[in-house]
Amino acid sequence: MSEARLIDGKAFAADLRGRVGKGVAELVAGKGVKPGLATVLVGGDPASQVYVRSKGKVAAELGMSSFDHRLPEDATEAELLQLIATLNADTGVHGILVQLPLPKHIHTERVLQAIHPDKDVDGFHPINVGRLGSIAAGAPLDFPVPCTPLGCSMLLADALGSLSGRTAVVVGRSTLVGRPVAQLLLRADCTVTIAHSRTRDLPALCRTADILVVAIGRPEFLRGDWIKPGAAVIDVGINRVPAADGKTKLVGDVAFEEARQVAGHLTPVPGGVGPMTVACLMYNTLQEARRKAGLPFAAI
Ligand code: GUN
Repeated sequence: MSEARLIDGKAFAADLRGRVGKGVAELVAGKGVKPGLATVLVGGDPASQVYVRSKGKVAAELGMSSFDHRLPEDATEAELLQLIATLNADTGVHGILVQLPLPKHIHTERVLQAIHPDKDVDGFHPINVGRLGSIAAGAPLDFPVPCTPLGCSMLLADALGSLSGRTAVVVGRSTLVGRPVAQLLLRADCTVTIAHSRTRDLPALCRTADILVVAIGRPEFLRGDWIKPGAAVIDVGINRVPAADGKTKLVGDVAFEEARQVAGHLTPVPGGVGPMTVACLMYNTLQEARRKAGLPFAAI
């Protein structure tokens, strides 16, 4: 058995960003509408700061307006809701992203529900969650879909072509990744099982999968002998662990070197799913700006 083909998410994301940038230029030239993305960060979590900075930077690189809002760690929920109301009403803002996790005293669901569904470029508003949950097989994704799951499905479609009839196992049932990934695979006519911490004999279930998506946040949890030879494995995990040299390194939820000997396709960490998240955020923002300009959804 030859080694798995690595799915180059970094290259795919760069290409997608290029297509989004072209779409932005066309929208500006054709309709005079410049897509605008507002990011909101509450508190000073270092990882969140890095993510938010990167989102603003990429938006600007693609020709979008970028609005960076920072609130202190002790900001009240009312202050955050007031900011969201202002951004909802701002015609220059087409996408609003509230970086998660929020401080514990703020009710995340109430905040996500306050974002207008047409500006919800994270796809976390209950209306958009419901749209994805009730989508028919093959129907267009003409509403915002969570960025990381959308990125996973784009990488799978690029690597495998049609996913129809394939058996998919999604390990992890989070609302941010596991559940929306499962919905996207169902839409693509896969036979889908969602596994979680209480699943019995997880290795045996995983070995039934033509497509394995792993999003549980446990470093190198999924072993090589859980993988059916030739399966496509999408590793959504990003875990920082101690390295042999005393520093730290990033690993996924899949034991990479083992998986590489068995899988047919495999995403590396870093450089697999990670870069797709920001690229898909830009894609969602462009789509919502197009909607505002009266243009139809465009598969770019
Ligand atoms: N925190 C970690 N991932 C995400 C994401 O995709 N969107 C938001 N808003 N916050 C996050």
